Order: sequence, then C-alpha cells, then structure tokens
Amino acid sequence: MDNESSAEDIVKRRSIFFRSFGIYTEVGGFYDYGPIGLRIKRNVESAWRALFPEGLGLLEVETSIVLPEIVLKASGHLATFTDPVGICSTCKTAHRLDKTLEEYYEKKGDAEGMAQVKKMKLDELASKINELGIKCNKCGGVIGSPENFNLMFKTQMGQKSTDVAYLRPETAQGIFVDFKEIYRSHGLKLPCGISQVGKVFRNEISPRQQLVRVREFTQMETEIFIDKDAKFEGFGGVDMRRVEAEKLPFIKRGTNNEVELSIKELLADGAIPNEYFAIMLYKEKELIELLGIEKGRYRFRQLEKEELPHYSMGNVDLEVKTSYGYIEVSGNAHRSDYDLSSHAKMSGKDLTVISNEKKVLPHVIEASIGVDRLLFSVIDGAAKDDGRGWKVLALKKAAAPYLCAVFPLQKDDKLIEKAKEIEGMLVANKIPAFYSDSGSIGKRYAKADEIGVPSAITIDFETLNDGMVTIRDRDTSKQVRKKIEEIFELVV
Ligand code: GAP
Repeated sequence: MDNESSAEDIVKRRSIFFRSFGIYTEVGGFYDYGPIGLRIKRNVESAWRALFPEGLGLLEVETSIVLPEIVLKASGHLATFTDPVGICSTCKTAHRLDKTLEEYYEKKGDAEGMAQVKKMKLDELASKINELGIKCNKCGGVIGSPENFNLMFKTQMGQKSTDVAYLRPETAQGIFVDFKEIYRSHGLKLPCGISQVGKVFRNEISPRQQLVRVREFTQMETEIFIDKDAKFEGFGGVDMRRVEAEKLPFIKRGTNNEVELSIKELLADGAIPNEYFAIMLYKEKELIELLGIEKGRYRFRQLEKEELPHYSMGNVDLEVKTSYGYIEVSGNAHRSDYDLSSHAKMSGKDLTVISNEKKVLPHVIEASIGVDRLLFSVIDGAAKDDGRGWKVLALKKAAAPYLCAVFPLQKDDKLIEKAKEIEGMLVANKIPAFYSDSGSIGKRYAKADEIGVPSAITIDFETLNDGMVTIRDRDTSKQVRKKIEEIFELVV
C-alpha cells in the first residue's frame, strides 16, 4: 500500500502522466505524458526495439491508424471485438459484466469464482449477476439489458458518411495487410518477422486504474511469419539451449496455481506451442527484467479456451503484479493463418509466398506488449519511501529518464560555468543528463531522486582547483569524490 501511494504521489507531483483535457473535463481513459514520463516511455520502447526487432533481426514498419471498414470486417474485429455490457436501469451507467462479477468474487476472496468468470458468455454473466443480486455501484439500480458492445472507435473518411472507418484496435492488422509487399520488396524468407510500435484505440466501457485500462494507448507488436510444416532451424540468432533451459513462473490452462517450469518442459507438454512462441516469452522476460521488474513480480499464464481472442489458437499472457494486483502486460498468441487467410479472401489477393519451392500461407506467432501498462508496472514497482523525507523512484538505468543530474553547489558564475561544461560533455557523449541550479542542493537531490535519476554530480569550489566532483548515488545517498574524467564510466 505504501508503494501504491509512493508511486501515485510521485506521478502526480512530477506530472509523469496525467489525465488529458484536465482544464475542461474529466474524460476517463485518456492520459498525457509529461516530459519525464515521455522519456521513460521512450526508454521502454528503445529497450523493446533493441531486444525484439533489432535483437532478432526483424523489420519494423509504421502503418495507418485509420482503417477502412473492410480491413476490420476481414480481421473479424467488426463482428467479434466486443465486451459484455449491462446498463443500469435507473442511472443508465454502463457496466462491464465480466469485471463487475470478477470484482464481486475478488472481494470475497473466491479464486474459483474469478476463474469461472473468464469462461462465461454474455447470457451466463448477466444471469449470474442477477442471481447474486449484484447492483449498480453508483445508484443501487438493477443491471440489465446485456449486450456485446464493440470496442472500436468509429469515424468516416471524407465527406460521404457511407465511407465508414475505424481507429485501429491493434497495430497488427497493418502488418498483415502489408505483409506480402514487404516480403517481396525486402527479399524475405520464412521464418521472418515484422514489428510495429504505435497508438491504438479501444472504446473501453469502464476505463480505470490509471494507465491499466485506457482508451488510447501504445502497443509494441511483433508478428513472426512461419511455415507451419517446416522444421524449426533456429530464429533471430537466438541460442535455443539457453531459451529451453530458462525457467518461467507459469500458470497452465485449467489450473490456478503458479509453477516454475523450464521452457523445454512447457514446449514438451504443449503449453508453449512452438519454438518461435518460446523465443517471444524468453525475450519478454529479458525485457521486463532489464526494466526492473524482478522475479517474483511476474508470471506467465496460459489462457483458457473460452478466454481466447477470436483469432487465436492459443495464448499466453505475461502478467505483472502491481498495486492493482496482477495485470496483463503482454498477450502472446498463436494466430495460425487466421489473419492472412481472411485478408486474402476479403481482398481477393493471393497472400501466399514461395518458401522452399512451395506456396505457403504463413502462420503467425504474435507478441503484443502494451507500452503504457509496462511503464505503469515499472514505475509502480520502483517507487519507494525509505524515510529520507521524500519519495524515490528507484528506476533501473534502462528506464531512467536521465542517467545523471549536474548541479553547481551554489549559484556562483564560475560553478555554473563548470557545471554546464560537464553537462555538455555528458550530452556530447550521449549520456542523458540534466542541469539544475534552482533551490537548495538538498531540494535538487530530492527532485533527482523522485524522477529516478541514478547519479547526481555536484561541482563545488574545490572542483575548480583539483578537477574532482562529488557523485551521489540515488539508492544509497552515498557520495564519492572522483576525477571529472572518471564520471563517464560511473554513470553509464
Ligand atoms: N494484437 C493483439 C492484441 O492487441 P491484446 O491482448 O488485446 O492483444 C495487447 O492487447 C496488449 O495491449 C495487452 O497485453 C495490454 O498490455 C495492452 N492493452 C490492451 N488493452 C488495453 C487498455 N485498454 N489499456 C491499456 N493497455 C491495454
């Protein structure tokens, strides 16, 4: 709980992220990132880029956000991308039926009840809510009129209102639609992968829990295209022995308990469908640990059949423990040839490719990571109150908005000049650094701690004589005196 308040407090005080359009109205589900939040977000994306598209030698694209209706008709989103909703007969508030029921069981500590909710269809959810006498949490009215509500934001293209379009609910569709063209123009061979990072939109019924359930967010998606009949012969230069030896905290389908199993064991019993899928989980583990989400705070969960998205033959979610409980940070799916075959049918275009001298309609393995939920999990876990009089964001260097702060001890022209010179040297060496001379040195240390800067360099009058600076460590508050030339290796 202390952790929760620390994170929320820092996020608010330093405007890391905050509700959009705040001066006008309180619309749920839209957040803006302030300068510090944006730097952390970019770090999350850079860490992903280094491990996924660049680390695995894949291609990255940027496709359109507005999609004509036909694309989403083909993908199945028009018909099936829905959430179960009930409307309060008195105040007309819309409630997500599955979440309402889950919250009921969660309050009762009924894990079995919660697990059952994931398997229920619209009518079952509505009658269970009725049977248990669960009422509207706003006014106590009866929750009725169940319907499957489509989550896509609708718009129109141009002036003709018949040209219906939607804001994309996932970045993946752009990759599928462009796949054949990229395959051809880049001389790809199966297996191959294409990634994309970008904004997506979902008209969530009850956005909540800060960045956890929002209506506009960023996804980092990777689609691996494979020939399902070809033998696995390695991918992306990954050492499969290391991957198979890796142990994952895992909840298998049909069970409620977490066990630690090696990827080799999970592959053997089919909980992980193939080696490409295994590589995605391995890389995700690497990504979250790099960003500071340590073992014990995450697990992988194989989804029940009833929970699978309409396109999936099998899913494994990566869940991270936050102050809101476990949240899904990534969805990994075996999409089979569902998308390419649907787009081929709808467009009338042949989307097969030649692989090993035969025509193949590739199957797809997907890793879809939510940037905002990952960033939220990182901040939520890093915020601490260790009694120093202010909160600390103990971010790992990979996530920290700056690696280093540079402070003149006092507002003195000579100290300021030297401090700015050092800041310039750091920035020229691509070390993100920020300079400040406002307020007392204590206040500046506190600010650097709050926004997660790992080291602070202070320039004093001695520095002008001996070229030594004081380096203060954020986590221990310990200070050491070092030569200016030595700071580079210390802060990186
Ligand atoms: N292309 C597959 C796909 O979109 P998903 O499980 O619906 O799969 C992937 O979404 C990730 O996007 C989730 O694991 C989560 O991190 C993020 N996400 C989904 N809905 C979200 C929401 N309303 N707010 C914030 N992040 C969300």
